[in-house]
Amino acid sequence: MTDHTSGTPAPATSPTLFEQLGGEEAVGAVVDIFYDKVLGDPDLRPYFTAVDLDGLKQHQRRFVGQALGATRPYSGRSMRRAHEHLAVTDDAFGKVVSHLAGALTEAGVDEATVGTIAQALLPLKADIVTA
Ligand code: HEM
Repeated sequence: MTDHTSGTPAPATSPTLFEQLGGEEAVGAVVDIFYDKVLGDPDLRPYFTAVDLDGLKQHQRRFVGQALGATRPYSGRSMRRAHEHLAVTDDAFGKVVSHLAGALTEAGVDEATVGTIAQALLPLKADIVTA
């Protein structure tokens, strides 16, 4: 974001969580770990049968990046539209969030930041849990 009128750099702001994590590449690593955890969970695996996992991973990467404050907007379906046919339970939602927290921790993210990210996802529960 260049300021063409003065040529001076924009004032420094604190880095987004996305930047702290190491940007696109680090988020990709987190998504990979996260998906292995979700698909390895016998309570969650049934939700993901018949889903194009490559496409889902790509969406999830963009979404997680967006949740962490990346600049590229998430342009997929609304969270309600994407999940309403799945009858996601409260329990399944909790497990998915805890697998994401585990993936972030394994990727070296500190505990406080993991907590912040998990908190940020909680408001989505109202749209995602429909069972
Ligand atoms: C933590 C909150 C969650 C976030 C941020 C999230 C995010 C997403 C995103 C971005 C997509 C792709 C949407 C699109 O294709 O346009 C998606 C699809 C999907 N999600 Fe989630 N999700 C969450 C929780 C869950 C839970 C708890 C489950 C099931 C236990 C779940 C199962 C699925 C499935 C199966 C799809 C593919 C749907 C389809 O293509 O038919 N998600 N999710």
